[in-house]
Amino acid sequence: MTTYYTPNRNIKFDYTCRKIDNVNDPAKNGFISLYQNIFADEPYKEDWPYNEVEKVWINFTKYSLYIAEISYCIDDENNYNYKVIGFASGCNSSYMDNDTFKFVESEQERLNFNNSNSFYVAELGVAKEYRKNGIAAKLMNLLHMDAVKENKKFAYLITACNNNNNTISFYTKNGYYISNIIYNCKILAGGVVDKKNVLVKNL
Ligand SMILES: CC(C)(COP(=O)(O)OP(=O)(O)OC[C@H]1O[C@@H](n2cnc3c(N)ncnc32)[C@H](O)[C@@H]1OP(=O)(O)O)[C@@H](O)C(=O)NCCC(=O)NCCS
Repeated sequence: MTTYYTPNRNIKFDYTCRKIDNVNDPAKNGFISLYQNIFADEPYKEDWPYNEVEKVWINFTKYSLYIAEISYCIDDENNYNYKVIGFASGCNSSYMDNDTFKFVESEQERLNFNNSNSFYVAELGVAKEYRKNGIAAKLMNLLHMDAVKENKKFAYLITACNNNNNTISFYTKNGYYISNIIYNCKILAGGVVDKKNVLVKNL
């Protein structure tokens, strides 16, 4: 067992990652509330109703979804409930809104990618109090390893960028490079902000 600490060190924990391929997996409600919490926060400020996130869950479980779950935890009160603390997923076009779908298709064309040689990373999130412990890096690595097994040559994604959001440095540390920057775009992917980046990684 490895022992991790939350950044303020008031929680000591360990976690495991696993792939979800059953829509009825008991982690469903934990995933849904984590997703709602993460995207209600800065810079996204999105309000996701339960049934919309349920659709996301259904689509992700069909394609590729990894979650991180607490396996051991001691907090200040020495008690703890089971909890989903992270997720990473690829998705297919059925989940995307129309504008995002058109945009992702045009980026695929621009990069000379297609569905068999590339993998679109749709979502990544780790519960705020557990960040900076390498959990997102581990989840991304699992997605990448699956993509390599499926002979994909590239992973790509769209991410928001503003003063409150340092995801670019996270992705570059994990082998991605910036391939395109889009201003004032309408697409929902990566959150509702003015500037978005298309990031690519050679697998
Ligand atoms: C982006 C996000 C998923 C990163 O999650 P995370 O689990 O904290 O990621 P990691 O721990 O793997 O890496 C984060 C940082 O911690 C550092 N780190 C990793 N392990 C560490 C450790 N054991 N001790 C200290 N720092 C560590 C990494 O080097 C990285 O540094 P950086 O901030 O300069 O890039 C998380 O911040 C998040 O959920 N944000 C909100 C949702 C979001 O924006 N998602 C992306 C949408 S496109």
